[in-house]
Amino acid sequence: MRLLISMGTRPEIIKMAPVYEALSRIRDADLLLVHTGQHYNQEMSDIFFSELGIREPDINLGIGSGSQIIQTSSIIKEIGSVIENYEPEATIAVGDTNSVLGTAIASSKLEVPFIHIESGLRSYDFTMPEEINRRISDHLASLNFSPTVRSFSNLAEEGYPPRRIVLSGNTIVDVVRRTMSLIQKSSIIKDLGIDESEPIMTVTVHRKENTDYEHRMLGIVKALEELNELTIVWPMHPRTLRKLKEFNMLSKLKSMDHLLLTEPLGYIEFLKLLLSSDVIATDSGGVQEESATLKKPCVILRDNTERPELVEMGFGKITGINPSAIVSAVRDFLYREGLREKLESLPNPFGDGRAAVLIVDILRRIWDLRNLKQESPRFKGGSPHYVSIRVSGKIAEMTVSRLKEATGYDVITIYDATGRSIAFDPSTPLVKGEIIRLRGDPYNFDKLRRLIKG
Ligand code: UD1
Ligand code: UDP
Repeated sequence: MRLLISMGTRPEIIKMAPVYEALSRIRDADLLLVHTGQHYNQEMSDIFFSELGIREPDINLGIGSGSQIIQTSSIIKEIGSVIENYEPEATIAVGDTNSVLGTAIASSKLEVPFIHIESGLRSYDFTMPEEINRRISDHLASLNFSPTVRSFSNLAEEGYPPRRIVLSGNTIVDVVRRTMSLIQKSSIIKDLGIDESEPIMTVTVHRKENTDYEHRMLGIVKALEELNELTIVWPMHPRTLRKLKEFNMLSKLKSMDHLLLTEPLGYIEFLKLLLSSDVIATDSGGVQEESATLKKPCVILRDNTERPELVEMGFGKITGINPSAIVSAVRDFLYREGLREKLESLPNPFGDGRAAVLIVDILRRIWDLRNLKQESPRFKGGSPHYVSIRVSGKIAEMTVSRLKEATGYDVITIYDATGRSIAFDPSTPLVKGEIIRLRGDPYNFDKLRRLIKG
């Protein structure tokens, strides 16, 4: 196995850590670690390598900051050269940043299979650079690991072949579990001089759709000002610091007695802060997942989320940046009776902490990752034919792969009796009454029709 592991930003390093750990246990695996350099400050990058036990990258492309276009195109160019020189069997990346998109494009253009972790998340908001990155990276990937049934279904609904999607859970849960004993020992709360007997809220904000707009940042600042019954801790992303200075809001924030601004924290310290919090307010993807993992209520400072599981299950509420919506959501979470017990009783929508082992086990079994090459099927009719049918007769006795062998049709989506799209693999049996959507060569339709009738 000869694999190029690509990372570029804080959340990618964190979420790749358990995958790297499991890969590095494979004897004879030849791993090239490439850091794009999109994040470069010690507290946005290096600290996570040392804390989470990843060896120093073999190559740092030194891309740094820049516009969406400059940053993305530089990553494509630079990582493209590395792929040409190193000739990996495949490349792998996690998440939805420009580093991931650059890796996906360079890899696919060079006909090297791209493996994507955390696939199928959708916010349906194209003003987010991440939504563009996700959509393209997912569809260029030869193998997608989706964290939840919802993300699996999103991909299947878009026509991505389900036999190349694996429902894996999110590797962030693995990271939290593995570091829990260190997290519990962290002294950060004492070091920051926080009185733990008072309610605590951790805040993070860094998304372009918030930080780039003065009125949106003002909405958040006003809400924090009003919530003075809390101790609020805000480890600040460098992008946010830069923008708040530009908007002249930093001095106002610094003057609030109940608010503590800090540099970005290391992983262990930050997780201890989350663990000690009564409520979390964030626009971060990873922090939303960690809030569910730690069973903490989460106010989502955005107009949408690509992690709707959080909201559906009751861990999260979307408030946007309206100050009164933020304040009332925070207070509702703080003072609602029985909330803590309710959240404690909920399963984690993002998995059970075994995602990385599952991902690496699948890769190990494939071993020669060139076998993952994208398929380019030929259709006698020129393009495929889609059809939806209710499972009955002979089809109800078949698995997904058996139906493919018998008819040439791929199962694209399966809807259960309640109409919900489900996650499946080639060995999944088709059940009477389900509706399935199929794709195949129109020239094979007669075979399918005979089976439906029979
Ligand atoms: C990027 C990702 C985002 C992810 C986030 C994780 C894209 C489009 N965005 O956003 O999806 O959620 O990382 O944190 O890929 N800066 C520094 N030092 C650093 C890194 C950044 O000072 O080490 C400052 C610079 O002023 C830079 C700004 O932050 O211009 C933005 O950095 P950039 O990597 O472009 O985007 P993020 O906002 O970090
Ligand atoms: N994080 C951290 N220190 C901080 C803030 C966040 O270690 O001061 C971690 C957090 O635990 C999570 C990840 O960074 O795992 C989230 O990164 P970020 O919010 O920058 O990006 P996103 O997840 O939104 O892409």
